[in-house]
Amino acid sequence: MNEEKIIRMNMETDTNHTHNGDDKPILCLGIESSCDETSAAIVDSDKNILGHIIYSQIPEHQKYGGVVPELAARAHILAVDEVIKLTLQQAGKTIDDIDVIAATAGPGLIGGVLIGWMTATGIANAKNKPLIAVNHLEGHALVPRLKSSSATDSATNINVEFPYLLMLASGGHCQILLVHNVGKYEMIGQTLDDSAGEAFDKVAKMLGLGYPGGPIVDNRAKLGDSKRFHFPRPLCDKPGCDFSFSGIKTAARMLLDKTPESERDEKFINDFCASFQLSVVDCITNRLTNALHDERVKQAQPKTMVVAGGVAKNSAIRSAMEELANKFNMMFAAPPMNLCTDNGAMIAWAGIENYKIGNIVKEPVAPRPRWPLTEL
Ligand code: KG4
Ligand code: ZN
Repeated sequence: MNEEKIIRMNMETDTNHTHNGDDKPILCLGIESSCDETSAAIVDSDKNILGHIIYSQIPEHQKYGGVVPELAARAHILAVDEVIKLTLQQAGKTIDDIDVIAATAGPGLIGGVLIGWMTATGIANAKNKPLIAVNHLEGHALVPRLKSSSATDSATNINVEFPYLLMLASGGHCQILLVHNVGKYEMIGQTLDDSAGEAFDKVAKMLGLGYPGGPIVDNRAKLGDSKRFHFPRPLCDKPGCDFSFSGIKTAARMLLDKTPESERDEKFINDFCASFQLSVVDCITNRLTNALHDERVKQAQPKTMVVAGGVAKNSAIRSAMEELANKFNMMFAAPPMNLCTDNGAMIAWAGIENYKIGNIVKEPVAPRPRWPLTEL
């Protein structure tokens, strides 16, 4: 993929771009299709979500125990037009009312990304609207700044200002980042092998609990005893902020192999999930504690600690991070539950944030299966 093709004009903060000529908020249509959700949303620059449709393909992939890229691409093709139409209907808008079109241009499963991106490009060209190439990870990273009117707990009500310390944990990524500004990310630590979401998914699969594993393990863990089994905490005795989850996965496999089928009752599964989840929580708090002592972080003085990505739905991770933030006199912020896993609103919001600083596509863009946040 040709990076030069992604032209991002950096005009720095041009606040005149927050409202259109009539002083009405800017309306952005965002499209997400990088994994197993086809989603669209209309978000305005005053942080209102006017329409939001998430078509989840999870039932189509469940029997395979994970996402099958070809099936996902086909399902995106079949769904994308209808999802956009329903989103416009829900918002009571037509495409002519929309000021900006944004779509995920990577990273992700390239078949799906292409479908959302080509759809957005087609609409933007046909209607002569500005187009924003959104990095999916930036969608996760910035959505905590989109305060939702449906906010129910204090963590979703925080006004998140730059710079902030971000724990980005999804199915594909596990990173600690300093978010300096839109498009300005500094990597503090990242996983050397699996992501946290992958660890949840793989352990759930081993236990025969289904896909995706994160929410199932989370629910089981609430019923279990987290002290019954001991799983390793890889790298936690070492300095630095990197993660490793493959050792926890291997330990889970070994524990399962030595437990006869007859002993794998409900209590065993619940205790297993609780003990496994505690090891992931401990790794996250250990690595974040090191990040808070990192010179780069100390110098930036972030006031808020933020969690985002699908794994941010995890109740134990949210509360452990909130406790850690309090200990360090920081605020804690997290997106509302429906904006943690993949969704169109985070893409529309990242579209608005990029539009405000003039990051508008000027030439055809080639979507990218890999696109690290540090390469924006
Ligand atoms: O951000 P996301 O929707 O997709 C990617 O961009 O990868 O994240 C999906 C991941 C899956 O691995 C899923 O198991 C995990 O988020 N997840 C959770 C929870 N809900 C979703 N992990 C732990 N606890 C949860 N409650
Ligand atoms: Zn995601």
